[in-house]
Amino acid sequence: MGQKVLVIGSGAREHAIAHTLLKGSSVDEVTVAPGNPGMVGDGIRITQLSQSNHAALIEFVQQNGYDWVFVGPEVPLIEGIVDDFAKAGIKAFGPNKAAAQIEGSKDFAKQLMARHNIPTAKYQTFSDLELAKEYANEHGAPIVIKADGLAAGKGVTVAMDLHTAIRALEDIFVDHRFGSAGAKVVIEDFLEGQEFSLMSFVNGTEFWPMPISQDHKRAHDGDEGPNTGGMGAYSPVPQIPQSVIDEAIDTIVRPTVEGMAEEGTPFTGILYAGLIATANGPKVIEFNARFGDPETEVVLPKLTSDLGAGISEILNGGTPEFTWDETNATLGVVLASKGYPEHVIKGARVPEIPVDEDSHVYYAGVVSDGKGGLVADSGRVLLVETSAPDIKSAQDKVYSIIDKLDWRGMFYRHDIGFKALK
Ligand code: AMP
Ligand code: GLY
Repeated sequence: MGQKVLVIGSGAREHAIAHTLLKGSSVDEVTVAPGNPGMVGDGIRITQLSQSNHAALIEFVQQNGYDWVFVGPEVPLIEGIVDDFAKAGIKAFGPNKAAAQIEGSKDFAKQLMARHNIPTAKYQTFSDLELAKEYANEHGAPIVIKADGLAAGKGVTVAMDLHTAIRALEDIFVDHRFGSAGAKVVIEDFLEGQEFSLMSFVNGTEFWPMPISQDHKRAHDGDEGPNTGGMGAYSPVPQIPQSVIDEAIDTIVRPTVEGMAEEGTPFTGILYAGLIATANGPKVIEFNARFGDPETEVVLPKLTSDLGAGISEILNGGTPEFTWDETNATLGVVLASKGYPEHVIKGARVPEIPVDEDSHVYYAGVVSDGKGGLVADSGRVLLVETSAPDIKSAQDKVYSIIDKLDWRGMFYRHDIGFKALK
């Protein structure tokens, strides 16, 4: 009999994780807590439990006989949900609280990289506005200002002029725009080059890299507008040569995994390296302690092995196998509520989306309208993904699905994948 798995989270990333688990023969039941009603059409169960109520989740797992848990988002990881599950005798895939600091604290990540000579932007940490301003003034623009801690992807200002840098510092220290996340600020050098995301399965000492992907962080076409959680992604990223990927594995992923193990904070779960291919080789912009969103929705469809079997092996101390379709390209476009990310206007009606067997819809911020339909309930609403022999045909295919539908109250970028097609 197949295994029963509980996935924690509610977005398109968790939809993709749950859907991929169900595709493998080792898993025959997946429940997502709290999930969203868009997942149900794929045979995924959902349960109304909050990701921050660890006690209720533990009780749910015990009473319903789940074999193990997959933790999707960073917040419960950083709050120590894997430690809490472990104390209750439940296997959960994800880093414990100590290891999740690699995402939860930029300062922790930067110090780890410094100790292990992992290439990243030069930086300094400040907890005082005047000292921070002085440093920014001396350094000059471009310069990057980051609130330490979690600010849901919005705590970063890439300042191309000093005025913007000073404004960002004042926002953090004076206006407390990011709450307690702004108590410390990291100021770092601006890195120039193409970004790519390199995610790996990690068992504490060893890692299994996935195909790379590229996110689109800005809200509007041509990389204009504010930073978002991500408006679309594709994989592979042909303008990043294999030699750069190999170098990133050798100089970034391996020393990070080995360094964390040596220092007594071994990382188990998905390690996400957000990288920039600079003229001097790949460098780290950020680490995440989980699958990326929207990257997951274009990477997991390439998995040709059984996801649940691989994770089960890791959780049981064995050697997992992960294999990938390296011939086809995948591309996904996010549909977002009007006004995202700054002033989200909820309530748009989600149309029926006709997809073929090479395409899939992964739902995120949706609620039921009570009549069998879905209504947008937050910024990112859903992602339409397709697989095709190359990026151009994947792009054409996704837009041929999206462009003819009525997206009143929502918007999307029309150029996902453009850097690969220049
Ligand atoms: P983060 O939340 O750290 O991923 O930053 C959000 C975005 O800001 C990144 O995806 C980059 O586009 C940009 N960014 C962050 N740090 C740097 C840097 N040091 N140099 C250039 N761009 C950066
Ligand atoms: N797509 C970037 C992230 O998941 O943080």
